[in-house]
Amino acid sequence: MKLLSLSVLLTVLFLTGCSSFKVLDPKGTVADLQLNLFQLSTVIMLLVFFVVFSIFVYFTWKYRETPERRQIIPPYVKGNKKLEVTWTVIPILLLVILAIPTIKGTFSLEELKANGEDPLVIQVTGHQYWWEVHYPEQGITLTNEAYIPVNRPVAFQLTSADVIHSFWMPRLGGKKDLIPGKTNTLTLNASKQGEYKGQCAELCGASHSYMRFQVHAVGDREFTKWIEKETNGEAADQLTPTAKEGKKLFISNCLTCHAISPAERSKGPNLSGISDKERIGNVLLNSDENMERWIRDPSSIKPDVNMPPFPDLTEEDLNALSTYLSQLEE
Ligand code: CUA
Repeated sequence: MKLLSLSVLLTVLFLTGCSSFKVLDPKGTVADLQLNLFQLSTVIMLLVFFVVFSIFVYFTWKYRETPERRQIIPPYVKGNKKLEVTWTVIPILLLVILAIPTIKGTFSLEELKANGEDPLVIQVTGHQYWWEVHYPEQGITLTNEAYIPVNRPVAFQLTSADVIHSFWMPRLGGKKDLIPGKTNTLTLNASKQGEYKGQCAELCGASHSYMRFQVHAVGDREFTKWIEKETNGEAADQLTPTAKEGKKLFISNCLTCHAISPAERSKGPNLSGISDKERIGNVLLNSDENMERWIRDPSSIKPDVNMPPFPDLTEEDLNALSTYLSQLEE
């Protein structure tokens, strides 16, 4: 009994999801349409299931084996036009009912691209295991997050630097693969301001599950302000002495892979705004102590990550580096 209640509880937890990663709660035109199609096909499939299953149960019971029946040899039946037409026409009708809104919807998504203003272009490059988010017109580069204006189509141009990843943003709709050497475009919009979570949906290696990202959908004015802040943000160098030490270490150890300004692109994740991030590498909660653990040996925390360990850095060095990163402004 205990086992049963435990499994029921686990099933409920699994089905409801214990994180804020929502799948069936659309907040964009594409996602709305997908949910409607999903509901329509679920209803049709359930209908088919119940009809077929009821007939199956009924006939199994009606023609069950009994001692009398065992003696009877049933007559040979050769075809039945009425029945055959019925079970051919019904599925055709059901498929037509499904096809009409699906095709209509697919074309209306093309309209989303063509309608009104030009879409905002964001280039997303998948890496094992992080996302580079680049705004080509504005010259801004972010890591694992994107700012978008509401009610404006956003064209995500997707590609990969290594293996195949998949960009999945359920509340805004759509899912598309990021393929090395190829660019796929996924046009979405957000109809409501808010924070939307995304996740890589293609098993791409040991830390695939840590490939998460966040979209901040903001109002037009806030979006313009954000662009200004990112492009003009010349942070005054008001570093504490320890952070200054950290900066030196950063330049000699980390700068080959990590840019620290949104205006630059780098081989590894751009670290601008890292002090505001909730997590380091999408895994560890952001604190000085965790930052030190991370720098010392990242792959012990995020398996298979490309960043090398730094076993030669002393406690003091690590402390200086984490202090510098915590004071790093955009
Ligand atoms: Cu990238 Cu899974």
